[in-house]
Amino acid sequence: MDLLLMFKNILFLLYLNFKCEKVNGNTLDPTLCAGILPADLLEESIPKYGFLPSGVSVLYDTNSHAHAYRFSRNNVDLQFPVSKIFKNCLFFPDEFSIFFVIKHESVYDKKECILRIGNKNSTLVSIQFSRKYIIFTYNNRKVQYRNFALKDKKWHSVGFSVSSTDITMTTDCINKRRKRLKRKWPSILPLNNSTFQIASCAPGHGVTLGQIKDLIFIPGADAAVRACPPKTPQHRHLDNRLPAVPGRLIDIYRIGSPGPRWDDCTWTDVGNIAYDLHAKSLKVCVNGIWQHVTVNIQAPSKVPNLPRRLDYIDFHQDIRTPGPSIDVEVFTIKGEGIFAVFASSRPKKSRKKDISIIYKWRKKRFVFYQRMDTDAAQCWKFFTIDNNFFLAVANYGKASGVQSNSTIYKWHKRRKKFKEFQTILTWTARDFEHFVINDENYLAVTNYAKGASHKVDSEIYKWSTKLRRFELFQSLLTTGAYDWTYFRVNGYHFLAAAQAFDGFSTLIDSNIYVLQDKKFVLFQTIETNGATDVEFFKIGDSIFLAVANAYNYGPQNINKKQEYFTNSTIYKLDKGRRVFKTFQTIQTFSAVDWEFVTIGDEHFLIVSNAQNRALEGDHLTSIYKWRGVEKFVRVHQMDVLPNADWEIFTYKKDVYFLYSNAKGKTSQVLKAYFMPP
Ligand SMILES: *[C@@H]1O[C@H](CO)[C@@H](O)[C@H](O)[C@H]1NC(C)=O
Ligand SMILES: *[C@@H]1O[C@H](CO)[C@@H](O)[C@H](O)[C@H]1NC(C)=O
Ligand SMILES: *[C@@H]1O[C@H](CO)[C@@H](O)[C@H](O)[C@H]1NC(C)=O
Ligand SMILES: *[C@@H]1O[C@H](CO)[C@@H](O)[C@H](O)[C@H]1NC(C)=O
Ligand SMILES: *[C@@H]1O[C@H](CO)[C@@H](O)[C@H](O)[C@H]1NC(C)=O
Repeated sequence: MDLLLMFKNILFLLYLNFKCEKVNGNTLDPTLCAGILPADLLEESIPKYGFLPSGVSVLYDTNSHAHAYRFSRNNVDLQFPVSKIFKNCLFFPDEFSIFFVIKHESVYDKKECILRIGNKNSTLVSIQFSRKYIIFTYNNRKVQYRNFALKDKKWHSVGFSVSSTDITMTTDCINKRRKRLKRKWPSILPLNNSTFQIASCAPGHGVTLGQIKDLIFIPGADAAVRACPPKTPQHRHLDNRLPAVPGRLIDIYRIGSPGPRWDDCTWTDVGNIAYDLHAKSLKVCVNGIWQHVTVNIQAPSKVPNLPRRLDYIDFHQDIRTPGPSIDVEVFTIKGEGIFAVFASSRPKKSRKKDISIIYKWRKKRFVFYQRMDTDAAQCWKFFTIDNNFFLAVANYGKASGVQSNSTIYKWHKRRKKFKEFQTILTWTARDFEHFVINDENYLAVTNYAKGASHKVDSEIYKWSTKLRRFELFQSLLTTGAYDWTYFRVNGYHFLAAAQAFDGFSTLIDSNIYVLQDKKFVLFQTIETNGATDVEFFKIGDSIFLAVANAYNYGPQNINKKQEYFTNSTIYKLDKGRRVFKTFQTIQTFSAVDWEFVTIGDEHFLIVSNAQNRALEGDHLTSIYKWRGVEKFVRVHQMDVLPNADWEIFTYKKDVYFLYSNAKGKTSQVLKAYFMPP
């Protein structure tokens, strides 16, 4: 038995490094997790050495020269925790593919189960089949396909690909059937200690499946589709003496084997799928040629996971705004495209009305789209609730300490414009932050000053599904608050308030709150100096907060020397002590924003430079690159206009940088260029 096991398919030892950090917006999307690798679930669940689990036997199929497993009806209990494959994930991946190769032996009347992912209480995913149907269950929703493929006693490959809106099933790479998947996007399905359960949908209740040869999970939306050639070649049936075996998954990894074997792919073969350990890629046979299959695991608004190296960044477009702009928000409206809105304000003495402008990305340029009434706009935030699109603007108002109205706009689907939806009374509002906890939507606003005092409540609003508007949820007393940042670590929900000024000094503490018993309570304070932004990001298992310290004013700098020169600090979470500790300090000049971005497998931090006096030499805007033990190291310096806020977005395969000009009416789009792979 051991010998047999040693020869069993050892597919899929792919070490692709999938990075999933979301870069659109300030926080890393908690629904995406780092480093899911493709996995052979049979390989994971059945020990390589020693005894086979009860109810499992190994067979050698002489026709296909492959080892396969057979499972018995009653006593199979093959499961292992999903965390073995989904490293650092709280949620089930939104896009994935599953392949398996099966040959059934007997006529079956009952539903038979190939795979179930879930816990005792609920099923995230299952694959079953009966004589009539192949049934894919996603989050308790069933999608049924007529079972045409699995009726004879031959090997068949079946692949499912789940994308944001549909499920596609391919059988033997010949039939491809797509069905709509009704769900929220992203789904945010908690893993809750789920397991992969093989060949059974309930522990102890195995099925007589016949044989399964491979059962592969891939964290990509379309692997099962791409693994098949575009169409079935014409001459497939020409040579009857050598019938094609469409869609076989082939044992390609043997000791000393350099890759897919040429003889598994002849001119009559089509759709044989193999994992090439050396090339680290999925391959498909198309009439005698092994072709490389790209597995696309791109989530929305995410920098493509290409093995690319950022080489240089160049000018792309000037954008004229009505006035200097302190913030820019890039967002995508499904079916409409990419937009950018700048928080602009005109000089106080200007007699023109204060407005901000939304631009739309058309033919690789941002063009005017909609004019928005604002009142010294400080920040725009885009968010989605139940398929409705919203934009909230934080308005500074007429002067510091004076009441202002900040506005939430809602996208009008027919008119394709944003319309005023709700106003919120604010005091020198600086920032909006939107976040979702247990399916409930929250919107937090930072208030900077009320009258002469910088101590003022910053508010957290919660969406009322009944009233369909935001209602006050909690007030937190803040001091010169500039920015809210929401983030989630291990299921805990945090809000960090960057606090800039108490009326006397910029050297004050900023606060990190944690949600406990339905209220945010203080978790930790950190000493900051004119803090205007907190950026949350993850690199591997490590959790970081980068704080932009903008200004050094007060008794600690009595001579008012070089007030824009500050040390900005990156903190790292000490998971044992549950506290953020200083990790690295970087000298900055009027830094009001940090932006974290992952491109390919490299991580970068861009720091803004709002006063930029490039003419004076050393105030260029810097990009830092993650270099492991060397921490963040400056790798690019850009001679750009004074910049307050940076955003990164992708269009097709191109990566663009966008910044708002803090001092003038010209903001810019830059384009990233890459070294050839
Ligand atoms: C299953 O549900 C019960 C009761 O609703 C709950 O106490 C338990 O924690 C749940 N188990 C898991 C793994 O989610
Ligand atoms: C997962 O756990 C959360 C609480 O930890 C609970 O609210 C939710 O219902 C659970 N979901 C499932 C599918 O068990
Ligand atoms: C998951 O398992 C761990 C330890 O086994 C336990 O502490 C935790 O409460 C479980 N979570 C859920 C949602 O069941
Ligand atoms: C805010 O809006 C309300 C209602 O439209 C209006 O009465 C009030 O004057 C506004 N306040 C400011 C400061 O603009
Ligand atoms: C920043 O840190 C450097 C090195 O520790 C120190 O010399 C400098 O005085 C600091 N600057 C400010 C403004 O605190």
